[in-house]
This record gives sequence, structure tokens and C-alpha cells, in this order.
Amino acid sequence: MSQPNRVEHQLTDKGYVPVYTTAVVEQPWASYTATDHEVWATLFERQQTLLVGRASDEFLRQQRLMGMSPDHIPKFDELNPVLRKATGWELIGVEGLLPELTFFEHLANRRFPVTWWIRKPEQLDYLSEPDLFHDLFGHVPLLMNPVFADYMAAYGRGGVKAHAIGPEALVNLTRLYWYTVEFGLIRQDDGLRIYGSGIVSSKGESIHCLDSAAPNRIGFDLERIMRTRYRIDTFQKTYFVIDSYEQLMEATRPDFTPIYARLAQLDSFPAGAVQPGDAVFNRGTGEGWLDDGDV
Ligand code: PHE
Ligand code: CO
Repeated sequence: MSQPNRVEHQLTDKGYVPVYTTAVVEQPWASYTATDHEVWATLFERQQTLLVGRASDEFLRQQRLMGMSPDHIPKFDELNPVLRKATGWELIGVEGLLPELTFFEHLANRRFPVTWWIRKPEQLDYLSEPDLFHDLFGHVPLLMNPVFADYMAAYGRGGVKAHAIGPEALVNLTRLYWYTVEFGLIRQDDGLRIYGSGIVSSKGESIHCLDSAAPNRIGFDLERIMRTRYRIDTFQKTYFVIDSYEQLMEATRPDFTPIYARLAQLDSFPAGAVQPGDAVFNRGTGEGWLDDGDV
């Protein structure tokens, strides 16, 4: 078997640019070094401990059921039968970021792309693109939940459709992914919890999103989210809170085509601005916010 590539962003005269790759690869499990396995173990144990009482009950429950452990980097081939049986999803290995349409097509067909390589020891706290830890630890547990699994597949189909409609529709849809799948919070009877993958795979943001007074925490509202810009290089200024995964599924069931058309006439919202009509759990103090950099 040939060794797959490790595709990362590149430094050009225009600064760092993302690089895209479409290859689907075998997980080269035998090629992981002792350091790779140690990075996995360190991150896994650190987040496991931190996420008790912070991650949603369902995330933690499904993570246990999947049987990932800190002992070594999991084998996709061992997780796949468990995942397939639960929700019909499967993991496929990829070399890095996928072009949008390719990504959507995988999701629509219940294939979740997982980056085969893991970050370096000096990147434990931050790296600017998904790696194996983010993809596997962060995304895969909720793919075991039937409702969330359906949401992700529906999102993929919605992505294929938005891609055909045009770039503005895609921007709206990408914000939805960002503020739910990557950075979503959920309200449990015993308080707010994390379900977003971008948060559960980050030590700093796992603490910040729930404990800090700086960010807004606002009730989920589909069109509000689709109009809201976001941060890719700092903690989020605003988190959106769902009541249940069913709420997410129901809210996104309608055809988005007329919504995209309507939103095209409206301005977007800055990442940190509270709007009239928001259901505010916490109005952020804005402490530490940078003024520029919403995308
Ligand atoms: N209902 C959306 C559409 O018509 C598809 C979608 C479902 C998007 C779930 C996101 C999440 O485009
Ligand atoms: Co992700």
C-alpha cells in the first residue's frame, strides 16, 4: 500500500492558503509513530476529563459506546462496523480538506471523511485545519445518534443543492454547519452543554464557551444563524444553543431555496452582535474580542 499524503495549508506570497484534495485513502495505521499515538493519548485523556459535565450527555454516551480508547489511534476498520450498525454511516480516510462539493457528496451518502494524519506535539492546543483528532474524537460520536446522523446526511444533500444555487447560498449553509456541527451548544435540564466538534476537540474553547462571560450564548434560530458571520482564528464571539437534536432536524427540514433568496436581500450580522429578537442566555461582555476578522 502506498503512503498517503499529508495535505496541509501552504504558505504563499498571499499568506497561508488552504489546499484541497479529493483522494480517498486507506488509513496507513502501521505507519503511525509512537509520537502519533502519544499525541492521540494525551489529547484523548485531556478532553475526556475536561468534558465530564461539559459535553452533552449524548456525546459522552455515544463516545463510550463507540469504544475509542486512549491506548492507540483507533482503526477506522474497527470503528466502522459499530457505526454502520448504529446509523449506517462509515468513515473514509482523506488526506486533508475536501472541496465543498466533494465533502457534501460524501455526507449525503453517509460517508464521513476523516483526516488520516494527526497533529504534531507542538500543536496540541491549536492547529488551523482538521486533523485525525478533531475528526474522530470530535465528529464521530454524534454520528452514532440516529437523529444527528440524519441531520448530517440531510446537510450533505442540502450542500449539493446549495452548491448548484450559487456561492451566496453556500455561505448561508456553511454558517449553519459552523454554528451547529462545529460550535453548537445544547440545553440540558442541568445546564448548557457542548455538542460542537470544534469545541470538544479544543481544550481552550471547551472551557471558554461555557465558563467565560465574553461570548454571547443565544437560542438557535435558523435564519439568524445563516446571516451570522464567524471567526476561524479565535474563539467564537457567539454560540447558538439548541434544545434538542430533534429541533435541529425539524428546523432544517423545509426547502431552503426560498430562504436563500430572501437572505440574499439582507445584510449579514457581525459575529458578536446581539440582535433584536434573540433569545439571550448570556449577553457577552466582549472581553478580548478583536474588531476585525469575521468571515
Ligand atoms: N432542508 C435543506 C434544504 O432544502 C437541507 C438541509 C437539511 C440543510 C439539514 C441543512 C441541514 O436545502
Ligand atoms: Co470539523
